[in-house]
Amino acid sequence: MLDVAFAKPALPKSGALVLLIGEGEMPSGLWQQADEATGGAIARALAAAEFKGAKGKTCMILAPGAGLSRVLAVGLGKPAELKPLGLNEAGGAIAAALPRETTIAIAAGTLQAGQAAEVAFGTVLRAYRFDRYRTKEKAEDKPKLGKITMLTAEPPRAKAAWDPLDGVANGIFVTRDLVSEPPNVLNPAEMADRCKKLSELGLKVEILGPREMTRLGFGALLGVAQGSVNEPRMVVMHWNGASGGGGRKRGGGTGKPVAFIGKGVTFDTGGISIKPAGGMEDMKWDMAGAGTVVGLMAALAGRKAKVDAVGLVGLVENMPSGSAQRPGDVVKTYSGQTVEVINTDAEGRLVLADVLWYCQQKFDPRFMIDLATLTGAMIVALGHEYAGMFSNDDALAQKLLAVGNDVNEKVWRFPLHDEYDKLIRSDIADMKNIGGRAAGSISAAQFIQRFVNKKPWVHLDIAGMAWSGKTTAYVPKGATAFGVRLLDRLVAEHFEG
Ligand code: BES
Ligand code: MN
Ligand code: ZN
Repeated sequence: MLDVAFAKPALPKSGALVLLIGEGEMPSGLWQQADEATGGAIARALAAAEFKGAKGKTCMILAPGAGLSRVLAVGLGKPAELKPLGLNEAGGAIAAALPRETTIAIAAGTLQAGQAAEVAFGTVLRAYRFDRYRTKEKAEDKPKLGKITMLTAEPPRAKAAWDPLDGVANGIFVTRDLVSEPPNVLNPAEMADRCKKLSELGLKVEILGPREMTRLGFGALLGVAQGSVNEPRMVVMHWNGASGGGGRKRGGGTGKPVAFIGKGVTFDTGGISIKPAGGMEDMKWDMAGAGTVVGLMAALAGRKAKVDAVGLVGLVENMPSGSAQRPGDVVKTYSGQTVEVINTDAEGRLVLADVLWYCQQKFDPRFMIDLATLTGAMIVALGHEYAGMFSNDDALAQKLLAVGNDVNEKVWRFPLHDEYDKLIRSDIADMKNIGGRAAGSISAAQFIQRFVNKKPWVHLDIAGMAWSGKTTAYVPKGATAFGVRLLDRLVAEHFEG
């Protein structure tokens, strides 16, 4: 990850300088100094470019003098309208515009300490790149950015504001790395191993294999896994930031943890109900719900959140083979309820069913939030702007709705209803695993709700949000880590201390 430093404003003698400029702002501080040192080159360039500091506008000035390689002016818009997301966007624009610089000095003298940290956050998030498997890229084509220095009036305060964001950025990168990995590398055992490594952050990590899960009676999860030579895993991660363990003793907790559960299908071929070939490679990111839970736990640990949290992920590969489950099979879930598997491609809900039930039995959590790339129908409904939200708890749903807007990871609530629940009635078992063409995302959520035992619960269908085909201000294309910021902020605002 990009190195982030904080220092008092001083004109750098070489390299790139970024000026963050509000709309209508007059030159002062480093801006003025840089302009004087370069004989007015900056003022001339900004005038020629008609740059006035409007939000989203940038102006690059090459070799202005005074030893500087470039000066980049980034418009912040009207100072009174400055919000954290706008600062993230400005930070993202810096990483986008200066990939060839090794170090950048960012003049943030007119910003508050927290605002400077939000700019750095945007730069760091945008500078992410998954390049583990590029062996032939020429050195001159590789992004070189390794360090940014925020030049600010109160470096220690800005650093203090940055520290928790650093933890969150690291969690986001854990998720992006996991979700980006190819499916031959990231099978369930490998993903579990990577979870285990996060015990470095102070997380307690337990791994259950097929024998433990057989003993427990995870018939639904194991049914999905049985067609693959890659064994399933369930990983349980604990962060005890309120009650001790990873954090200091505080005693503020209720004793009950908050719980996050993720669908981790490391590859979804559809099984015997096999998917068409076109685009099937996308199903490497069918573990994004789990990847998000893991990154979230890393974020909570990284910023030492004062909360007790558990993160559970069900890891399986859904393959067709001689040992694969068949359409028509009836499986017995850990809850005791039976399921007729009509379509082996509706596998995520089978995995979640057992993990959710285990979570309640074992931890009696305050609430459960599950994340899953669960249905293609979710993408039909909402595209790539909002995740679908389903909940039995209005207060929790309302909190997520609000927090989602604050961090730009937006959720849109869908209904649950007894009438929809009838769609999954089976003639032979307690339920079947698909409804029909109508309301596909809702019938999937109804299925999951049958494994929620009177607990506040939210299901987030992130099928349209986990992967992005286009780069935006601070989210490069590819794995988005949607949900890490959302749930980290939910915890920070409502469930800490
Ligand atoms: N992982 C898929 C859902 C999905 C599809 C996520 C495309 C992201 C992009 C899920 O396991 C699945 O296959 N769902 C089926 C359900 C159907 C069989 C009821 C679907 O959406 O087609
Ligand atoms: Mn599927
Ligand atoms: Zn799937």
